[in-house]
Amino acid sequence: MTETVLVTSALPYANGPIHFGHIVGAYLPADIYVRFRRMLGDDVHFVSGTDEHGVAITLKAEQAGVGYEDYVDRWHESIKRSLEHVGIEFDVFTGTSHHRNPFHRELAQQFFLDLKAQGYLGKHSEEQFFSEAMGRFLPDRYVEGTCYHCGYEKARGDECPHCGRYLEAQKLKDPRSTLDGSTPVLKETRHYYLDLGRARDEWLKDWFESKRGQWKPNVENFVAADLADLRERPITRDLPWGVPVPGENGSDDGEPGKVLYVWFDAPIGYLSISKQYWHAQGRPERFEELWKGADTKLYHFIGKDNITFHAVVFPSMLKGTGQGWVLPENVPANEFFNFEGRKFNTSSGWVIPEEAVADDPTDALRYALTTMMPETADSEWTWEEYRSRVNDDLADNLGNLVTRTLRFVEKFFDGRIPALGELSERDAELQQEARKAAAEVQEHLHAFRFRRACQAMMGFGNACNRYYDLEQPWVAVKDETTRSRAAQTMRVCCEMVRVLAHLIAPVMPETSTTLLRTLGRDGESPSFERLGELGGGAGLPEGEIVGAALTGALPRFVDPRGREISAPFPKIPEARIAAELERLHDLAKRQDAGTGKHSPGSDADATPVAADLEPIADEIGFETFAAVDLRTGTILEASKHPKADRLLVLRVDLGFETRTIVAGVAASYTPEELIGRRVIAVVNLAPRKLRGVESQGMLLATDDAEGRARFLSPDAGSPNGARIR
Ligand code: 2FM
Ligand code: ZN
Repeated sequence: MTETVLVTSALPYANGPIHFGHIVGAYLPADIYVRFRRMLGDDVHFVSGTDEHGVAITLKAEQAGVGYEDYVDRWHESIKRSLEHVGIEFDVFTGTSHHRNPFHRELAQQFFLDLKAQGYLGKHSEEQFFSEAMGRFLPDRYVEGTCYHCGYEKARGDECPHCGRYLEAQKLKDPRSTLDGSTPVLKETRHYYLDLGRARDEWLKDWFESKRGQWKPNVENFVAADLADLRERPITRDLPWGVPVPGENGSDDGEPGKVLYVWFDAPIGYLSISKQYWHAQGRPERFEELWKGADTKLYHFIGKDNITFHAVVFPSMLKGTGQGWVLPENVPANEFFNFEGRKFNTSSGWVIPEEAVADDPTDALRYALTTMMPETADSEWTWEEYRSRVNDDLADNLGNLVTRTLRFVEKFFDGRIPALGELSERDAELQQEARKAAAEVQEHLHAFRFRRACQAMMGFGNACNRYYDLEQPWVAVKDETTRSRAAQTMRVCCEMVRVLAHLIAPVMPETSTTLLRTLGRDGESPSFERLGELGGGAGLPEGEIVGAALTGALPRFVDPRGREISAPFPKIPEARIAAELERLHDLAKRQDAGTGKHSPGSDADATPVAADLEPIADEIGFETFAAVDLRTGTILEASKHPKADRLLVLRVDLGFETRTIVAGVAASYTPEELIGRRVIAVVNLAPRKLRGVESQGMLLATDDAEGRARFLSPDAGSPNGARIR
């Protein structure tokens, strides 16, 4: 049964460039999901645009000396281009400012009036810091002072970066304005508040409970914590730029000088942008059909810092209007994505420079980013990982199958894809693998497990390559009596290239199209339907296929030796990675010298414990700890790493499965003494290749007085696989 699906990607602020940290959080997963649901035949509408209001934008435009509209226009264009560059294809991408989207202001104001009519808005006075020099109220985050919890002297009015607690700006000691350095005064102002407590008590908590087990654990944990402490939130601000607070009749002068808080109007942008689109399409009625449709499934793709607004505040707004707007089916938020051990930081240059990947195929980037996605825990881009995903997975696995198959057909069968004969046992087994991969990819994508979907795609690529190796067509083709077997092998491989073209389509759409073209299947729409069936009807057309483009359809690259090759993906040379790492190394040195930092992640203000012990790391919330899945296990086998003296390769029984874990303990243990040793493993870490061997987890260890690694062991009695809490 086809479904009606609305997909939104968080509206990026139009006040700076978008980087890969953003892209992997809310845009790439959404785009993959949209392509996937379309492959299933669902009716999908994909919406985004720029978030163009708020304090930061107002101030930045003023500082730049440009009009607000000009300022957001500039960033709107830049962000749009960056998203296009990684193949994100929205149905519509506009924004929330009135000149870009004339539907937004009116709709946001209508939400406000509806919520007011339903009794969800309160209005009261509060004292807020005011800069007399600038003649304006200061948003909390532009006031700095001493934290009343921990005494940190540079706490921001909204939160303390040292102890991590939320603050009430008015209580800061020694406040000063970070905008003009003045000492602000407290002045009374009146604001509207959204009654989230009422929403929680009336329905929000029950609704959330009804979602239990369906949302990602990282999101559920976050929302559960939010619900425990929900209060009313102010939804208006004293600012010159934004959606004016409406009067009763919908006029713009409900509260002169006040606008709706950016987080109130931004998510309404999803609707107003969609409304703008359907009007432009000449189908205005479609807007409400979708956004009020009883069967519509709404998905918000966001980063973790947006969870509260999408899973708590916005649903409260949608429902609170009483207008029957659809509530989100799921909010598949990602965690944070870092870059080589640090947070992405555009202003300091800690980003992946566009020119560094400009010549790489878009799909190589999309695939590598997907395999690194911070789906359930923070993750990071490393250049080594990028190289290994592109070289090992895309070039050596997928690319190798494709090029050797197509070249073989060109060389030995005159470029005609042989007809399909009767399936041998091995052919049938591979067909089974194809069906299994199709089922797995779908299952994972349905559950927003994009990384696992990639693993299933590559697992199938491996199965195809194994098949090719076992078949040895290069031997069979030389002998007249076995030549027909080589022909059958090639036909099966071509069928499998087609299967792969469909399987990879959500993640690597361009490559999917290219692969289909190699087989003469131009224009075939990606689909899972009957995928894995071979030959006429469901697979490639019946009989011999003459005139397929084969390697002629593949992109051409110059390899490191200067030769031109046709292949789906070029390999990334080690020298390129080394150059990138060197750049970062230099940058880190300069930055650390400037900030007094010693190493990535270290914090000069961290609490010291004792002279020879590490300082205590920054405080974390319980959910951060709970996100780490620790299990008990037993080492079954241990051997030296073939390529690294420092490493041992261990096989660890984890109760639910046995995994290979690579550990840097060769200087501390001999392999023999580790057999049978009980250990504690982190089992939900993204797998990582260490000098060519994939490590599927990490074992907990500490150092002894000589600095040698010592594994931690559970007490007797806990079976392998028991979770540690
Ligand atoms: O965090 C951000 O970048 C916000 N601009 C996201 C807004 S998402 C939605 F509500 F518009
Ligand atoms: Zn503090």
